[in-house]
Amino acid sequence: MEQIIKIVSLSKNYGDFKALFEVSLDIEKGTIFGLLGPNGAGKSTLIRVLACQSRPSGGHAYIDGLDVVIDKKKVLSIIGVVPQENSFYDDLTVNENLTYFGSLYRVHGSDIKERSSNILSMLRLGEKANNRAGTLSGGMKTRLNIACALVHKPRVLILDEPSVGLDPVSRQALWDTIREVNREGTTILITTHYMQEADALCDRILIMNRGKIVVEGKPGELKEAAGEKVIQISSSPGNYEIIKSSLEPIKAIRSCSFDEMGLKVTLGGEVPAQDIFDIFESHGEKIKSVESSSPSLEDVFIHAAGEAWH
Ligand SMILES: Nc1ncnc2c1ncn2[C@@H]1O[C@H](COP(=O)(O)OP(=O)(O)OP(=O)(O)O)[C@@H](O)[C@H]1O
Ligand SMILES: [Mg+2]
Repeated sequence: MEQIIKIVSLSKNYGDFKALFEVSLDIEKGTIFGLLGPNGAGKSTLIRVLACQSRPSGGHAYIDGLDVVIDKKKVLSIIGVVPQENSFYDDLTVNENLTYFGSLYRVHGSDIKERSSNILSMLRLGEKANNRAGTLSGGMKTRLNIACALVHKPRVLILDEPSVGLDPVSRQALWDTIREVNREGTTILITTHYMQEADALCDRILIMNRGKIVVEGKPGELKEAAGEKVIQISSSPGNYEIIKSSLEPIKAIRSCSFDEMGLKVTLGGEVPAQDIFDIFESHGEKIKSVESSSPSLEDVFIHAAGEAWH
């Protein structure tokens, strides 16, 4: 297995604040790797360091063997970065935009023509080649934004929350686009807050919190490791905060969380459901519904994000 990204004890401080703390990670060539974590976890900070936009305070990061600090110029020539805001010009046509971005990477003449036409057909934008970028639909604009980062055939494509604000259809199209780019051999590094997206798209995911890695692995493995069963209970009047504090000391209960839908308990071992119901009743709660399921990536996330706070 060949590692294309190697991160060794990487730290980033802002004054006294440690946005990244001694993060070490290997990412295998050809994978789609998802970076997850709550707001402020350090995902964008990590991505900025890898994209040579921010210098680390300590440690090293290498892309295809190149140091992101020492070999910055070379690194920039082998990565593509998709910013959250569209980076193309609305007044230029799709083709003109690609030609412009090509020129930034010194891809000119017949090379850029051929490359543009390949990218546009891969991203299903061929028909729009001569349309002004500003007139594209939202989903098409997202694809063009990615296309602009692909003109120089990067070995690694980095996307920071690319699906924010997309409707479900455009999001699906974005996933197809990312898979397509990946199939061409490009390694993908993506951050997202959508667990379903990470689950559907990523070969491996990393959950970080407060500048540190909490867990890393295949989505399936992480779900299996999260627990055996998730029970969601809705009750009335629904004072979940206090029930949660009664449930948490029980050893077989891995994690507990609640929202307006009810209280969710992830079980690591056998706990008779009746024991849990008894606790609800002891707090004067009337159980309205009980649902049981296997852990989802969201359960993994809530558990992992909670863990690092302790
Ligand atoms: N330039 C900066 N100066 C000071 N603090 C910063 C700077 N950039 C980021 N931070 C802090 O570092 C921490 C990590 O921020 P970062 O943007 O990496 O989080 P994130 O995981 O991308 O979060 P989100 O999911 O909200 O995008 C935050 O506490 C943030 O306030
Ligand atoms: Mg961010």
